[in-house]
Formats: sequence, C-alpha cells, structure tokens
Amino acid sequence: MHAPRPSHDVIVLGAGAAGLMCAGRAGQAGLQVALIDHAEAPGKKILISGGGRCNFTNRSVSAANFHSANPHFAKSALGRYRPADFIALIERHGIAWHEKTLGQLFCDGSARQVVDMLLSECPAEKVELLLGHAVSDIRHDGALFHLARDSAMLSAPALVIATGGPSIPKLGATGLAYDIARQFGCKVVVPRPALVPLTLPPADLLFRELSGIATEVIATAGKARFREAALFTHKGLSGPAILQVSSYWKPGEAIAVDFLPGAPPDWLRQAKREHPRAQVKTALAARLPDRLAAALSEKIDQPGNLADMPDKRLSQIESRLASWAFHPNGTEGFAKAEVTSGGVSTDFLSSKSMATKHLPGLYFIGEGVDVTGWLGGYNFQWAWASAVAAANAL
Ligand code: FDA
Repeated sequence: MHAPRPSHDVIVLGAGAAGLMCAGRAGQAGLQVALIDHAEAPGKKILISGGGRCNFTNRSVSAANFHSANPHFAKSALGRYRPADFIALIERHGIAWHEKTLGQLFCDGSARQVVDMLLSECPAEKVELLLGHAVSDIRHDGALFHLARDSAMLSAPALVIATGGPSIPKLGATGLAYDIARQFGCKVVVPRPALVPLTLPPADLLFRELSGIATEVIATAGKARFREAALFTHKGLSGPAILQVSSYWKPGEAIAVDFLPGAPPDWLRQAKREHPRAQVKTALAARLPDRLAAALSEKIDQPGNLADMPDKRLSQIESRLASWAFHPNGTEGFAKAEVTSGGVSTDFLSSKSMATKHLPGLYFIGEGVDVTGWLGGYNFQWAWASAVAAANAL
C-alpha cells in the first residue's frame, strides 16, 4: 500500500503578519505552500495597526523589549532577523517610512502597503492563498499533518501555526493556536490581555471625570517603568505609558504614576520661595493641564498659601505626586487589548526554528507564542523574526 501523498510541502495556518512572512519565505525557497485563513482578507491587524500607518518595527530591538516565561527565548530569532532586514525589505518595495518617537518606524502612506508587500513576496506559483474558510480536525499520522478545510483535505509534512492570539475577537482573532498546542501535547502559559487600558474603581471617579486629558508621566508596575503619555478615559487609564505597564500589571496590585517626570524633586518648595502666595493647585497648573491640576489638588486637599505650609508637608506632596498610587480593578479585556501575553509555552519549542521539540514538523510563530513585545513596533518585529526562523528551518 502507498502512503498518502501530501497536497503541499507546508501548510501555514493564519495569513496575518507572521503567516504571510513565513509563507513568502517558504515559497521563495521553492516549497509548495498552502496559506489558510478563516478571514475573507489577509493581514487585518496590520491594516489597522499604528493608526493605519503600521508601526512595522523599532529602530532598536532586543529581548529586553519582550516578556515571556523564558526571557532568553526570543534572542535567537530576533538576532537573526533584525529591524534593518525588514527596513531593507520595505525599501526594496519603495515604501516610504519615517521614525516617530522612541525609535518607532511607520509607513508614510498606509499600512495597506505592508500587506501588499507581504502578498507580493509570496510567489503566485508556489503559495496558494486559501481565504474565508474555517479549518477543522487537524491530525498527524506519524508522517503528514492532515487538515480538513470545508470538504477538501490538505496534507503536508510541515504545519506552521500563525493564528496569533485572541485579542480583538471582532477582527477574527481566536485562541486556535492554544487548542492546537494542547492537542499536540504543548502547554500554554495563561493568556492575558496586554497593551490594554486599565479600569479604575468607583473611588477613583474623580479621575474618570478627566476623560480625554493626556499628560506625560512615568508609569510603574512592578519593575517595569515607562515614560510616555497617559490618558484618562471614562473607564480609567490608557495612553502609551499605561498600555505598556498593563502588560506587567497583576490584578490586586497598584500602579504608580509620576505626574511630573521633568520637574526637580523640590519643585513645590521652589514654587513656595518664588510665589509664596500661590496655592498647590496654581503651582500644579503651571506644570499640568488645568483640570488635572484641579483634580489632583482636590485629592491632596491642602488649602491655603504655599507660604503657610511647612517644607516637610510640601515635600510629602511632591513625593505623592511623583508616585501616585492607582488601584486598577481590571482591564478593558481582550476586546480592547492590542496583544495577548502568554501563549504556547516556549519550553516546548526550539528557539532556533520555532518547531515543537517532540514533533519537529509542527511550528508555532508570532503572537500565539509566549513572547509579547512592548508597544512600539516590537510585536511586528517578533512576528517577522519568528516567521523567518521557521521558514529557514522548513
Ligand atoms: P495576526 O493576528 O496578525 O494574524 C493571525 C491570523 O490568523 C489572522 O489573519 C486571523 O484571521 C487568522 N486566524 C485566527 N484564528 C483563526 C482560525 N481559527 N482559523 C483560521 N485563521 C485564523 N504591533 C506592532 O508591532 N506595531 C503596531 O503598530 C501595532 N498596532 C496594533 C494595533 C491594533 C489595533 C492591534 C489589535 C494590534 C497591533 N499590533 C501592533 C500588534 C500586532 O498586530 C500583532 O502582534 C501581530 O499582528 C501578530 O502577528 P500574528 O501573525 O502572530 O497574528
């Protein structure tokens, strides 16, 4: 009896950032690829990323910009496919780009250019793009993976799972990568919404009334510290600094916010010497948006002129404003999370190839893996780098 013949050399499941990159590379290497997605169009998250301009990488990327149960895991793939490699690809396709703050690189035009580039990197005669159909019943017979797609059966010796994480389900995001991982004996680190707005309890209602106000802060959760803008929302806190610390925040813990990161430590005592008849609220309003200054002073509840307050009290107020404790009661969840932290445990994967150690034909790449980047182009760089690591090993 003959063994069943494979329909393809490799099946890539998920035509998002990582799947498109991996399929293109594999096709260019001469492999026959099936690239499958249940969505009607590829790369939906790329299209809405970076406010429609796709923050496609960061000027400086290292494993320190990611969190994972194994902080060393990402080093290998990131070291072998660097931001400069992706920039070279973008430039080869004539896509103009610019650098914003903190090394973040964006398209001048639109994120659509990145999706079109990735599609054009997939050789038509090698990569079969199969969109708009759910996949069910994945099996491995010892040699080939078999995958039912509607009435058709696909089979290949290699299967790459690039279905991302469950954040933003309305875009078609699912936890399929975790189900497949568990089916084939890999553990999954508990997935959590990350880069997500935090919600505040009713006791902090005063701050929720500041909805729409933004200011530069240093936000801290545990050992993670980010100096960027924070934004008050009608549910709590958002803005880049808060999204960054949300990935490190644990339920029940407080986050600390320094509202005056640029001010000298004795700024209020200096204000007392310069403007003794001013109030705390006025001194704060010189450095912060008026409504925020008013809300903070109301919480501090220190009426009277600065001249009437002992330096010791002013120094206490300075300290409180430099480390204001918020006690979030939750996050806005997967519906609003830019990424999912946790995912397929790296203990089960080769950091060089992203292949499952005990079943080398099965690969996991991109956001489905327990490697989560900071805000700022890092998550795409992980998608590209892990995809290339897998493609090179196919
Ligand atoms: P990705 O989510 O891109 O792709 C997964 C694919 O699998 C999708 O096409 C999906 O339809 C498909 N799929 C899922 N379940 C399936 C199933 N059951 N069957 C078949 N197919 C299935 N990052 C960054 O670095 N810079 C940025 O500017 C932004 N901006 C940004 C904005 C917003 C609003 C979001 C939500 C996210 C970002 N990100 C980002 C994060 C970034 O988009 C994300 O980390 C990468 O897209 C992850 O790439 P993957 O290929 O792993 O998953």
